[in-house]
Amino acid sequence: MPKTGSTARPAAKKNNNKPLATTPARDGKKPVASAPTKDSAKPPAAASSGSSLEIKDTRTSKTYSVPISDGAIRAPELKKIRTNDPGDTGLMSYDPAFLNTAACRSAITFIDGDKGILRYRGYPIEQLAETATFLEVAWLLRHGELPTQQEYDQFVHDITFHTYVHENMRKFLEGFRYDAHPMAMLNSSVAGLAAFYPSARNIFDETERNISIVRLLAKTPTLAAFSYRHVKGLPFVYPDNRLSYVENFLSMIARMSESKYEANPVFARALEILFILHADHEQNCSTSAVRAVGSSHVDPFSAVSAGVAALFGPLHGGANEQVLRMISEIGNVKNVPKFIETVKSGEGGRLMGFGHRVYKSYDPRAKIVKKLADDVFKIVGVDKDLEIALELERIALSDDYFTSRKLYPNVDFYTGLIYRSMAFPTDFFTVLFAIGRMPGWLAQWEEMLLDKEQKIARPRQLYVGPAERPYRSNLKAR
Ligand code: CMC
Repeated sequence: MPKTGSTARPAAKKNNNKPLATTPARDGKKPVASAPTKDSAKPPAAASSGSSLEIKDTRTSKTYSVPISDGAIRAPELKKIRTNDPGDTGLMSYDPAFLNTAACRSAITFIDGDKGILRYRGYPIEQLAETATFLEVAWLLRHGELPTQQEYDQFVHDITFHTYVHENMRKFLEGFRYDAHPMAMLNSSVAGLAAFYPSARNIFDETERNISIVRLLAKTPTLAAFSYRHVKGLPFVYPDNRLSYVENFLSMIARMSESKYEANPVFARALEILFILHADHEQNCSTSAVRAVGSSHVDPFSAVSAGVAALFGPLHGGANEQVLRMISEIGNVKNVPKFIETVKSGEGGRLMGFGHRVYKSYDPRAKIVKKLADDVFKIVGVDKDLEIALELERIALSDDYFTSRKLYPNVDFYTGLIYRSMAFPTDFFTVLFAIGRMPGWLAQWEEMLLDKEQKIARPRQLYVGPAERPYRSNLKAR
């Protein structure tokens, strides 16, 4: 019987920041601002160490000095700012949706939203998309360095030999209705893997983490392809160990009676690039979900399934599906100006595939995807809706509503057109995103787990409900 549930971790490091000092108010003294980083394309350095933020509490006239480190103050320091009221538990920061709150220190992905820069472990996304393989990127994200040839060969071997899923998982997937959304199937089957590998709960055992990570990377394409085949009413195709990661996935999707499936090399490379582009994106909604759920020290299958669930939403990974639905509703290029007006007035919902919390310029992934679309369309012919997409982009990029809000195409704007030209059904697009994002979720999960500063995620709240009141039931007397 495997050991389960070990959550022993080395004791947390002491917080070395000096305690917040309380000093008498000095009128007219300007607060000390954090030193701005010269080149915002560089990750914020320790340039601000030794600096502090002076805060004057006008309720008490006390002034506090809060240390600034890495361009941030520690929110728990604010707790020390309090009035003389004995019920006052200290000042909180209020930041719904984490608009300006760093929840972790991470060395995995760097984004400069204003300049449109994305790097994995320091490597520009454009260079990785050019020649790297998806599994090389997966290794890089987790280990911080590119694999040696020997490490890579072993990793590819390990992944290849863990692509099969237990036959009961197949039966589990067969239990879904014919019209089940493949993201719902993927989400529940990824979570279901926890039941097959109970020893994965030993999250502080490195060997267990390694095998869980290999299993998740290896089995996600199998679960995704089985979901696809189930919905289509097609027989499941088992993994073929002779094929590469992406070719094997395409084989499980498309193979019929051929003895060996041969993927179109342009499609295979295009999909590999799309997986690389999606592999990580720092603290987005799904990654934050994985980190928050993982912070309870649950097994990685359960933690990552929270990421799949978050990705399903139309404001996140589900946007790629919504872009095509929006385009088909527009129907014709001549209807684009009218549609844009309905977006601006709020009647038509959002322009899906536009806007981003972090990118305030063109999403660097969208640039690569747009170019990639040309390669794919050369083979399958231009997608009938490309004209509508290009017109939407052209009008939006010259319209003050979008430019003043810095709304540019994001990665999801053109991916759907590529997926459709490869004959993937619209509701499968987000599943493709999930396969790509898996290495990022896993690298972030492990980084969170090994970060001695991290604890169970538990935000505070500002209570705005009723004060105490007596219970008087409205139900009939029992
Ligand atoms: N179409 C029209 N208006 C928009 C859009 C859009 N796509 N996105 C934002 N706005 C407006 C919004 O109405 C608001 O206007 P106002 O200031 O007048 O109220 C302003 O721009 C700021 O919007 P926000 O909702 O505060 O921005 P956010 O950072 O919270 O949201 C977003 C980011 C991606 C959720 C949002 O831009 C959006 O809903 N986009 C469409 C969905 C989409 O494409 N999602 C994929 C994101 S990229 C891939 C991924 O990470 O999953």
